[in-house]
Amino acid sequence: MAWKALDRTKAPYDKDAAPVLSDAVREKIRSFFPRYETKRAALLPALHVVQDTLGHVSLKAMAEIAEVLEIPPSSVLDTLTFYTHFWDHEKGGKVIVGCRSLSCQLMGAEKVLDAIKSELGIDEHETTKDGKYSLITEECLAACDHGPCLLINEKLHKCVKPEDVAKILKDEKNAVIDPPRSDLFDAPKDAPPAAGAGGVGKTSDIQEMRES
Ligand code: FES
Repeated sequence: MAWKALDRTKAPYDKDAAPVLSDAVREKIRSFFPRYETKRAALLPALHVVQDTLGHVSLKAMAEIAEVLEIPPSSVLDTLTFYTHFWDHEKGGKVIVGCRSLSCQLMGAEKVLDAIKSELGIDEHETTKDGKYSLITEECLAACDHGPCLLINEKLHKCVKPEDVAKILKDEKNAVIDPPRSDLFDAPKDAPPAAGAGGVGKTSDIQEMRES
């Protein structure tokens, strides 16, 4: 993630605003506690659940996670910014993950990445204007014998050529995977974000915000 300059003369978020984590989300985070010796150890599951619920993890959401886990907010920020998978800003409905490790690079991953950037008009860790796609790169996706490969959400695309990119991106089913998958870190079912969540990140939320 690129370095960001923060204006320390302004509060980074409105501390008096309504909570962004609903009771159901807090309860789901607490449900991980019995698995670990410390509450801190539930931080990664908590980040997954909150991101799946709100689309991304805002500073306010980080502060509330810290409150539930009884750890400093800076620990949440440190952990979140270590992983490219987590977003502290607007994330598209589908995240494309390009592989930047050796096997895929030798097979032309750089050209595939360039084709994606040019097709979508975004760079890494950016989101398209319609909120549909975001793009990141990560180390080995564990499919080295099918390089260059990429993920769209959880679906693996193998042996991708630059000329395949436009077709893959136009396919509405390009992120559909066959079950089974674990819903362990998914948002709690039937539990919308708390009032004032500002849960921007899921495609519908972003489109709704742009249309208003
Ligand atoms: S190097 Fe790309 S999947 Fe392993």
